[in-house]
Amino acid sequence: MRVVVIGGTGHVGTYLAPRLVQAGHEVIVISRSERQPYQSHAAWQAVQMITLDRAAEEAAGRFGQRVHDLKPDVVIDMICFKLESASHLVEALRGDIQHFLHCGTIWVHGPSVETPTTEEQPRTPFGEYGIQKAAIEAYLLDQARRHGFPATCLHPGHIVGPGWAPLNPQGNFNTQVFATLARGDELALPNLGMETVHHVHADDVAQMFMQAIANRSSAVGESFHAVSPAAVTLRGYAEVVAAWFGIAARLRFLPWEEFCGGVAAPDAAQTLQHIQHSPNCSIAKAQRLLDYRPRYRSLQAVYEAVQWLIAAGDLRYLIGN
Ligand SMILES: NC(=O)c1ccc[n+]([C@@H]2O[C@H](COP(=O)([O-])OP(=O)(O)OC[C@H]3O[C@@H](n4cnc5c(N)ncnc54)[C@H](OP(=O)(O)O)[C@@H]3O)[C@@H](O)[C@H]2O)c1
Repeated sequence: MRVVVIGGTGHVGTYLAPRLVQAGHEVIVISRSERQPYQSHAAWQAVQMITLDRAAEEAAGRFGQRVHDLKPDVVIDMICFKLESASHLVEALRGDIQHFLHCGTIWVHGPSVETPTTEEQPRTPFGEYGIQKAAIEAYLLDQARRHGFPATCLHPGHIVGPGWAPLNPQGNFNTQVFATLARGDELALPNLGMETVHHVHADDVAQMFMQAIANRSSAVGESFHAVSPAAVTLRGYAEVVAAWFGIAARLRFLPWEEFCGGVAAPDAAQTLQHIQHSPNCSIAKAQRLLDYRPRYRSLQAVYEAVQWLIAAGDLRYLIGN
């Protein structure tokens, strides 16, 4: 099929575009051409790259038509963050495509009631990002179920892979947290360290897109969590990271206000967002309907990313060797 990926050179696109090519699809990637995929792959030679700024094209009211003009069978929208962006695209593509896949987020969920959280649980998002993503999901599923628009929503967890900093055991992106654990220095964690984060390897997100395309009849009109088999607690995560360096983690558990006082404000803000969500999502639906088989558990995915950080020199001086 002719597959257009909007925003296909980032975390997920790095793995998804080569997978699509290898499966025999004709692949077109739209981006501003400001960045390269995180890893090179010979398959990119077969990808048609289109340079477009979605924001500018949308502001001019012609983004949907530009995508339509590429005559896609399948459209994968990796970078939709506003309901208006989704509806603009749907109106342009309605009736003319076989499958539309939207990349959402597990933050369509607010605080969980039962865990693991299933896709069926009522949405209680908070924060502009999650609220917009939940509105997009509700709109697309309604379009699919009521009006026959062939939409599927995939909701990744914290995307991890070699090439960028993974969400760390404090629930923020400060790479020094890994160095602190590697050195055996004391690390502060909020509360009892029992709040959770739920990672996924970028290649497993790509796998789920492939599975959704291959299982179209089960995927249309549905949303799926794209996460690893299990969430991790901050405490357990920290202990495992220290063990990678042959050290027992020295952890200090602090009430939120005290924890906040000891870390930089942007890190505290990230941590707060992550522990307020404390995601723990089920993959049972994706396993059942899409035959999703994630290659990585959460900490295997993070391990790869930390190895990359070390190889890239990002942690070496912090660790001290
Ligand atoms: N990162 C996470 O941990 C995470 C977690 C859950 C859900 N998600 C969801 O994942 C999606 C993002 O996927 P990702 O992490 O693979 O993306 P990413 O790494 O942020 O890459 C974004 C891609 O979009 C392109 N792009 C950005 N702005 C553009 C514009 N105005 N016009 C055209 N192209 C543009 C980028 O290339 P250029 O810069 O060259 O244009 C790149 O190809 C989002 O929907 C997000 O909500 C992410």
